Amino acid sequence: MIYFDLRASFIFTKEISDLYSVFDNFFNNNTDKILSKNDEVGSTIEDFNINDNKLTIHLKSNQIVRANEALIRLKKELSNFIGFKFKIGIREVLINFFIIKIEADNGVDIETLPYVKNIDYENDRYIKIVFDTETEQKLTFSEIEKRIPDRIITLIKNKLEDYGGKNEHWELLWESEDKKFESNEDPTELMLNEGWIKRGYNRGQWIYGPEATYLFRTFEKIVLKELLEPLKYTEMIFPKLVSWDVWMKSGHAQGVYPEIYYVCPPKTRDPKYWEDVKNIYNITKEVPVDLIKEKIDVPIGGMCYAQCPSFWGFLQGETLASDQLPLKVYDHSGTSHRYESGGIHGIERVDEFHRLELVWVGTKEDTLEQAENLKKKYNHIFEDILEIKWRTAWVTPWFMAQEGKHGLSDMKDAGTVDYEALTPYNNKWIEIQNLSINANKYTKGFNVKSQDNKLLWSGCSGVGLERWAAAFISQHGLNSEKWPKKFKEYFKNMPKGIKTL
Ligand code: SER
Ligand code: ZN
Repeated sequence: MIYFDLRASFIFTKEISDLYSVFDNFFNNNTDKILSKNDEVGSTIEDFNINDNKLTIHLKSNQIVRANEALIRLKKELSNFIGFKFKIGIREVLINFFIIKIEADNGVDIETLPYVKNIDYENDRYIKIVFDTETEQKLTFSEIEKRIPDRIITLIKNKLEDYGGKNEHWELLWESEDKKFESNEDPTELMLNEGWIKRGYNRGQWIYGPEATYLFRTFEKIVLKELLEPLKYTEMIFPKLVSWDVWMKSGHAQGVYPEIYYVCPPKTRDPKYWEDVKNIYNITKEVPVDLIKEKIDVPIGGMCYAQCPSFWGFLQGETLASDQLPLKVYDHSGTSHRYESGGIHGIERVDEFHRLELVWVGTKEDTLEQAENLKKKYNHIFEDILEIKWRTAWVTPWFMAQEGKHGLSDMKDAGTVDYEALTPYNNKWIEIQNLSINANKYTKGFNVKSQDNKLLWSGCSGVGLERWAAAFISQHGLNSEKWPKKFKEYFKNMPKGIKTL
């Protein structure tokens, strides 16, 4: 149960002291409209009093009609009534106090929330939220109209559900047959030793030499020839600097913050403004990063994270012609970036990575059918060309995980299949790619319609080249003689690497 306790004052444009009985009657006659829902009483008016031009009212409620909702209704009905009958207007609504108590078996680890003065766990029974009604950061009627209290309740309920055991979902769907592996080595070490890759200057970043790059390109060629061309996907270029607008619509703004590489433009491009930075560097030969920090603006967004969200800007607010459907596109025009956990990792855990991203849009049936077509093609690639040990699992959908959520989607048929491969040297499984049905999340979020007004769904699939390489090399080793036959047909000749002394 949730309990609400709210006291607010209506400030009228004129004196109302002699209208006590008018208000009393008004409240008695309008309880249904204001305090009930489907004949169930949610809110009660505990008491009210009148002083000059001010009516102060005390509301208590459960969740049937939340007191904040009752207040909105009250204002509407009251201004119609009093305006019409007495030509008096409501100038302002002041919130005197507002407390919400959510019954819960445990508290939540939230210390501060906007508009909240205090949140704690009371008597081992309630999460008690006391709203700020005094300071500059106070909750006003405008926030009540914007449903801020309701969003706070949702946020706390989500937290409670997480504690209630909603974990990252993982459920095995299928596993390939056991294989004899050519290698039992760490793929990163193997490639480092042969000079195929070197560490970049940034954390989780690699510089790929000719051999490793050629391996990536071979993977891409296989996807192109075996999957993208036969299934008629066309190439696009998605932006790689993603604005907040995109992440607000894609849902990422709900939770991706700890993993973003933020992008800040200069406050101005006036060379004079940057003169001191240049001079300091030229004299000290150290980049004055703290000074730079002062001279750059707030982040306009971040580096590409999930790859497909910025595609949707192309379709935002548009209506798709029927002959366009299902729409099938892919992008491999740039890197993706994630601020990963610290420590030294190999190429299977990187902050800068390379991925082919496929997006398809269509009716629900089209979207599900396309997903099945892709699954067949992937199966063929992993079984007959890469010949790796792999498996699939039904997991928390990527779009929920990236919003900081757990569990599974409420939308039927929506979700993510993770493709995993075994790395024999440590006997662990790594995610090498995924394939998702995103239901109408993106078509709705970006307001995309079809000509015949059919509900549009979409799907996406991200093929991680570093992960494919880690899986392939860890199972087959670096000696290309021993690689699978069909793969060698694609790979042909190893390019000449860069040897140093
Ligand atoms: N956009 C999906 C993800 O980020 C697939 O690449 O996981
Ligand atoms: Zn995607």
